[in-house]
Amino acid sequence: MSAPTTPHLPEKSELPSRHVTLGVERAPHRSFYYAMGLGPDEVAKPFVGVVSCWNEAAPCNIALDRQAAAVKAGVAECGGLPREFCTITVTDSLAMGHEGMKSSLVSREVIADSVEVFIRGHSYDALVCVGSCDKSLPGMMMAMLRLNIPALFLYGGSILPGRYRGHDVTVQDVFEAVGARQAGTMTDEELHELECVACPSAGTCGGQYTANTMACVSEALGLALPGSASPPAVYESRDRVARQSGRSVMDLLSNRVRPRDIVTRKALENAARVVAASGGSTNAVLHLPAIANEAGVDFTLDDIGHIFATTPYLTSLKPGGKYVAKDLYDVGGVPVIMKALLDAGLLHGDCITVSGKTVAENLADTRVPTGQDVVKPVAEAYSPTGGLVVLRGNLAPEGAIVKVAGLATSVFKGTARCFDSEEECFAAVQNRAYKDGDVLVIRYEGPRGGPGMREMLSTTAALAGQNVGSRVALITDGRFSGATRGISVGHISPEAAVGGPIALIRDGDTIVIDGENGRLDVEISDEELAARHKAWTPRKTRYGSGALWRFAQLASSAATGAVTHPGAKGEVFDYSDI
Ligand code: FES
Repeated sequence: MSAPTTPHLPEKSELPSRHVTLGVERAPHRSFYYAMGLGPDEVAKPFVGVVSCWNEAAPCNIALDRQAAAVKAGVAECGGLPREFCTITVTDSLAMGHEGMKSSLVSREVIADSVEVFIRGHSYDALVCVGSCDKSLPGMMMAMLRLNIPALFLYGGSILPGRYRGHDVTVQDVFEAVGARQAGTMTDEELHELECVACPSAGTCGGQYTANTMACVSEALGLALPGSASPPAVYESRDRVARQSGRSVMDLLSNRVRPRDIVTRKALENAARVVAASGGSTNAVLHLPAIANEAGVDFTLDDIGHIFATTPYLTSLKPGGKYVAKDLYDVGGVPVIMKALLDAGLLHGDCITVSGKTVAENLADTRVPTGQDVVKPVAEAYSPTGGLVVLRGNLAPEGAIVKVAGLATSVFKGTARCFDSEEECFAAVQNRAYKDGDVLVIRYEGPRGGPGMREMLSTTAALAGQNVGSRVALITDGRFSGATRGISVGHISPEAAVGGPIALIRDGDTIVIDGENGRLDVEISDEELAARHKAWTPRKTRYGSGALWRFAQLASSAATGAVTHPGAKGEVFDYSDI
């Protein structure tokens, strides 16, 4: 950590916070600040919002208050006035697949909106976002770009691995153990023993699931300090990273560097490279276009698909590989993945980052260590292409995603078994009402249909627990958790709720998944598809009002990030009066 310096900061009269601090008419505002123990000298400083999604809902978020405190210390050391606030996050492992809420994706927009509204409402000058559970990462990064004030992201860090009968485990093992218990290959006592040891500390889910994938994205985009994503949540070293984040945001303010200066098309390409090289979650394919949308950059599913097809798979991280986030930290963290890509000419080294340096400068002293197999150099890649493939075909005219990392084959031809919700499919899987060669079709679970594009974690975990391997495939207009294994195609667009071809499939149709050639097709004629579409009628959303209803009305296709204001291109909000 560099020593704190007092950067040359803009005059208060140049900053957004002048609107709530300067002038005779702001005397009542100043009274409020004095009521909180602040003095005139502190009110005269730049106001820096420090937002975290701390809560007591899950281990992912429980350690964030300590990190926010360290960020605040760093801000104060460099002449800023830190002001902390919280936003929500909902925890995917708890908040999906029941009557209360079908999907957490809606929360991404709520998080982005809440951070935006808070900062605009109080006219703060800079921002540090401290996130953890899945949607808080893209939601906060979207808000940073939408506001476009000097801002920096800090990940809360991952959980330590659990230890069960001699091997490391994560919560994914518990999900799959439910399937094993239902299959009769695990006892109640064994399940209880596992659930008690699987999650031994604070921190986010340990594999290369959505939170850790988007943490990699935060570094690769340049919105987080290099090396900040990997220290486990409970390590004291994380406090040092947090304090440096507070110091660095003051440098960004001093130098008037803002998120849209950093998140360029090249930066988005870097992020997609790191997702592919790390076998990251398919959810990144949803979140990267949403982030690009806020940055005003055209970055499509096809752009992502091209990068995935040309990026070697370098890591052995769960669920496709052996290791968890702590193991990645032990070999050097995200910078090691980026260095391997940079050395091979697969990363844009000239992108600027919140450290004040370029990607290449950040990585100048980084080496890919020998004698380890968590991250390989490109010459020794686990496979020549990335772990994710974009599919197109008559079943997915706008695209779909399949994760091939860790799969023996990504080609599957089978017979459709259609379900109009995950519950229906899960019940069938629990009863083993499927056979080898089936393609389980789960539809009306897309962005508008769910609403919120639920992750099919229960069903895929049950299938994994029943050891179906690649004898059965699953396709859906919903999403998958990063913990998904097996042949699972998600994000099929257009979705069933808007009459996409997935709504028109019938039991017995032949479906071809071809991850090698990027195809997803149903073997019926165009004429037959058109006739079925003519007979199709939309279903009514089950929500009559509120955030879920609003999302069901507004969400765009998964191919454009399932955002509620597609085409914003960064023009709607531009907090640029510094
Ligand atoms: Fe919080 Fe996985 S449930 S990161």
